[in-house]
Amino acid sequence: MWVRSMRVPSIRVIESAGEMAQVCRTAGRTLGLVPTMGALHEGHLSLVRPARAENKTLVVSIFVNPAQFGNPQDLAGYPRDLERDLELLKNEDADLVFTPGLSQIYPPGFDTWIDVGALGDKLEGAHRPGHFRGVATVVAKLFNIVGPDLACFGQKDGQQS
Ligand code: PAF
Repeated sequence: MWVRSMRVPSIRVIESAGEMAQVCRTAGRTLGLVPTMGALHEGHLSLVRPARAENKTLVVSIFVNPAQFGNPQDLAGYPRDLERDLELLKNEDADLVFTPGLSQIYPPGFDTWIDVGALGDKLEGAHRPGHFRGVATVVAKLFNIVGPDLACFGQKDGQQS
């Protein structure tokens, strides 16, 4: 299997979960994580900035998580602009950007999920069955890979906690 990582000035972009875990294990602490699905905007940057200020190492993940989309059309239409995202994160002085492909998060045969029970039927979950199962699962995967000391989520994600 090819493991690819590319460098843009001052940030390191890693696609492999194994490489990411290895790099994070030896990274300076504290380590902050901002999980995102990319298409970054000012709302994301308002999380990135304090995370940058409060941590020695700042990791931003960019992964459009199919498991939290009910409608395949919504997933297909989700905006993606990695080049622009990386430019923004370079300007915010992020250290590491994790951009896993699908198989890095959900390898073939993956079938272990975090089921949030009745909580998952409330708020957004009332309209999007399985949404919070997908969010909880991907966040747990990201936490396991990155091992952050601190993670920053947006206010809209309050309903996910
Ligand atoms: O809110 C989001 O952008 C996503 O739900 C998250 C937390 C990155 C998980 O995919």
